[in-house]
Amino acid sequence: MHSPAMRPYDTLGHMRWLVTGGAGYIGSVVAAQLLSADHDVVVADDLSTGHQDAVPPGAAFHRCDVTEVGPLFEQWSFDGVLHFAARSIVGESVTDPALYWRNNVGGTLALLDTMRAHDVSRIVFSSTAATYGDSAHVPIDESAPTIPTSPYGAGKLAIDLALADHARAYGMCAVSLRYFNVAGALLHGQVGYGERHRPETHLIPLALRSAAGEAGPLQLFGTDYPTPDGTCIRDYVHVVDLADAHIRALSVGHPGEHRVINLGSGSGSSVREVLHAVEKVTGRSVPLNETGRRAGDPAVLVASNTRAAHDLGWRPQRDLTQMVDDAWQFSRVG
Ligand code: UFG
Repeated sequence: MHSPAMRPYDTLGHMRWLVTGGAGYIGSVVAAQLLSADHDVVVADDLSTGHQDAVPPGAAFHRCDVTEVGPLFEQWSFDGVLHFAARSIVGESVTDPALYWRNNVGGTLALLDTMRAHDVSRIVFSSTAATYGDSAHVPIDESAPTIPTSPYGAGKLAIDLALADHARAYGMCAVSLRYFNVAGALLHGQVGYGERHRPETHLIPLALRSAAGEAGPLQLFGTDYPTPDGTCIRDYVHVVDLADAHIRALSVGHPGEHRVINLGSGSGSSVREVLHAVEKVTGRSVPLNETGRRAGDPAVLVASNTRAAHDLGWRPQRDLTQMVDDAWQFSRVG
């Protein structure tokens, strides 16, 4: 499985990274994995959606907005930034686009100014499959048309474009990782890092709650899609595999370059297949309420991960059952 492009964590050496949004779901898992690989981590998070107890022990924590991180660059010398801080609810972005443009796009531009003022040039950015919109062809590779269908996706695409311009003009080294459907948790004994969104909108944690009897029936959004079982197909990727890809991304590229890399498993699962996995893992049935389609949901989203394999030497190691099992364990301890 080792290709020439593959770098184990420890070949990076000891470095210091600023992790914005490190109190959130993906940011906290990446921060924990960086610490496990013996890096220094400084987390900046305004806790607007994150949880302070999700910041892994060993990381320095500062409660601040991404527009206020200047003093951290005075205090520390960073080798780069992993930028997760963002609003991430698609539906909310439709009803309150100003919040998304100001927070996600405006915040990132301010962060880039701060990085440039302090000669920090490496950034790994949390982008999304939502930049592609309702893609006509699957699997979706990085050359697919970008026609986002929400302000959330549009803003993330705007940031990707800004990163390309900053790389070219200012010699930054930028990588945009476009996630598909992230799931699962990082479990360390009785401590875990997983999904605690408020409100929760994602399928797996909601299905687990319904199975556990902690919520009413799961709303199944649409059974008339042009897919084999009529429900939407998505590409689920384990958050620990995703974290591994981020750490690999810290050592690719060169000044002046911006790369876009999709992160997905390369295969799709329908909503009914996910629910089957939930029932298998929990040993309980998921009560269902089959309703109409949710606005804006494309029928099928599956990643091509060829570039991730080539550029990062990355291949996801954990399957859907493992994602559901880890999310279930997390919901019991978290
Ligand atoms: N679903 C249900 N019931 C629910 C929740 C979800 O049936 O209660 C269905 C959705 O309709 C969809 C699938 O489960 O078909 C997955 O939905 P999620 O909300 O878990 O994930 P999305 O595919 O909507 O969202 C993901 C990322 C977003 C990203 C988006 C791009 O989580 O960050 O893909 O399309 F913006």
